Amino acid sequence: MCKFFSFFPSTLLRAGFLFSLILAACSGSTATPIVEDIAPIATEDTSPVLYTDPGQPIDVRVEDLLKRMILEEKIGQMTQVEKGSIKAGDITTYAIGSILSGGGGSPAKNTPQEWYAMVEGYQEEALATRLEIPLIYGVDAIHGHGNLQNATIFPHNIGLGAANNPELVDAIGRATAEEMLASGIPWNFSPVIAVVQDVRWGRTYEGFGEETALVTSLGTAYLEGMQTIQEGDLVSEGQTIFALATPKHYIGDGATIWDSSSTGDYKLDQGNIQVPENILRERYLPPYISAVDAGALNVMASFSSWKGLKMHAQEYLLNDVLKVELGFNGFIVSDWQAMDQIYPDDYYASIVTSVNAGVDMNMVPYDYVTFIETMKKAVDNGDISEERIDEAVRRILRVKFSLGLFERPMPDPSLQATIRSQEHLELARQAVRESLVLLKNEKDVLPLSKETPVIFVAGQGANDLGLQSGGWTLEWQGKVGNHNEGTTIISAIRAAVSESARVEYNSDGNFSEFTDDAGNPLVADVTVVVLAENPYAEGVGDAADISLTNAEVKLLNEARKQSKAVVVILLTGRPRIITDELPLAEAWVAAWLPGTEGSGIADVLFNDFPFTGKLSYSWPRTHEQLPINIYNSQDKTGCDAPLFPFGYGLEYGESVPEILECK
Ligand code: BGC
Ligand code: BGC
Repeated sequence: MCKFFSFFPSTLLRAGFLFSLILAACSGSTATPIVEDIAPIATEDTSPVLYTDPGQPIDVRVEDLLKRMILEEKIGQMTQVEKGSIKAGDITTYAIGSILSGGGGSPAKNTPQEWYAMVEGYQEEALATRLEIPLIYGVDAIHGHGNLQNATIFPHNIGLGAANNPELVDAIGRATAEEMLASGIPWNFSPVIAVVQDVRWGRTYEGFGEETALVTSLGTAYLEGMQTIQEGDLVSEGQTIFALATPKHYIGDGATIWDSSSTGDYKLDQGNIQVPENILRERYLPPYISAVDAGALNVMASFSSWKGLKMHAQEYLLNDVLKVELGFNGFIVSDWQAMDQIYPDDYYASIVTSVNAGVDMNMVPYDYVTFIETMKKAVDNGDISEERIDEAVRRILRVKFSLGLFERPMPDPSLQATIRSQEHLELARQAVRESLVLLKNEKDVLPLSKETPVIFVAGQGANDLGLQSGGWTLEWQGKVGNHNEGTTIISAIRAAVSESARVEYNSDGNFSEFTDDAGNPLVADVTVVVLAENPYAEGVGDAADISLTNAEVKLLNEARKQSKAVVVILLTGRPRIITDELPLAEAWVAAWLPGTEGSGIADVLFNDFPFTGKLSYSWPRTHEQLPINIYNSQDKTGCDAPLFPFGYGLEYGESVPEILECK
């Protein structure tokens, strides 16, 4: 019934009231029509329709479409709604431009087909609007498509920072794009290109590291992998990018000051950055300069503040620096309900300020009706100009055209064959191998022989893909347990050893039930102890205390009892304080949050591949040192220096450096 609209997109709109009547009739929605009293626009526009012609240059299409749009449709484009909050019919009624899945925002049945069908359903509603503008669906596929069950889960960025291999990261960006598109989604809120200065931050693992050059090179590689069209891709005419990446969070997240956050009990996340502008530019801007040069078409603003003013209100940084100076011509999306934080008691002022500062699309994410009404009022009042609205919409439409959405609103479903394909699994396994950092290796306890007679394995982390994957996996805060396909560390070790080796696993490190032929407690040649942080995401993971827990130290001591040597594998989203516990094991390996392909760990432990990973974060010696990073520790020596510096990582055969005793 709504369909007849689309036959004459250029001449259709006679008068606003007619539009509103038909909108209400089409949608069957009970929502108050919002287009009641607008003046007729484009009444007699009989110019030829160019925007539907893929042969036209993108900017011509954008301008052609823009001039046909009424204010309500423009505001709709600027609105992004969380999928659980959108009411049936409202995408059409309000001409909503974008829907997202938050962390854990999967369909009831978490399969690629259900994801695809879900997105397609929303897309159909968008295409039922007068101008048939497709919506753009976004998700956080930050280490592979983590919300999708049984996707390929790659190491979190902290591990990729240690691997520091741009080609590998490029390939991961590409593979992630494929699995995401396979589920119907063209837009990834990734990569985080924070230059992280304080590892107590709960998002440390989302960052590649603490140094500008490393973050710049890997962030750019990821973006290029995700966006670049390759030979053989099914693309539309005029389509210029494969999928949309989102360098985030602009700017300087990861540089906030401890205890400066006013969100809940967060300490660093969403806090305040106090550096002078030259430092902001030298240290935190280069990853964005590079991303824009490489074709970034979306940037997410940061929840943080600079000198006390929320980034979402920083017209100078958003507009003057990012858009004008850097020449960024994509759109800026807000973070989750982040506009609202500018003036917590004044929604209207928050929205006006943020839109005028340069944020183009609001990740509302819940109450879109209020947002839309507020926008409408702000334009009516002259607090937001129509020029500013046009600028925002122009940017959003440019991206939709660049993705080919007008010709092909849904991606190629045959990409579903790439989900956990052999190629992706191999890539993830390689990434795990390259991400491992050997911190200590006394008496050359590593590598292990595949013929080692007895190997004990301890710790829940050895048998738990949830712990191995961390936050942003199936749920926003991660999900402990084996809910995905994948290879745990224990199964990887079992698969790696020869038949003659005996491998026993106990999560508590209690091996007393095993005895030798004489009935004495069986002594392992080596015990592999996996110490794992509980998963977390964002400010929930901000932590004053990053030392090992009592339970972890107990596990270590327990494991020593019946073993000639101990190897610790750390599953962690950040360096932790391990100075006092280092002597409790001969070897220590930082494995970060490797994701589903645990075989990569066995590959290196048993010497099929070498250790090549190097720390992308300084490893602190004490809590008192925090925050410590390459920028504030260069002149520190001896006990004031980090335990292991940025760039540190042993290889097989290298002698272990002296580890100072500092009291
Ligand atoms: C996250 C979302 C998540 C939500 C839950 C947000 O901050 O980014 O992905 O679903 O919080 O409240
Ligand atoms: C996070 C973003 C994320 C968004 C959507 C926010 O809470 O800060 O990084 O993209 O939620 O899940």
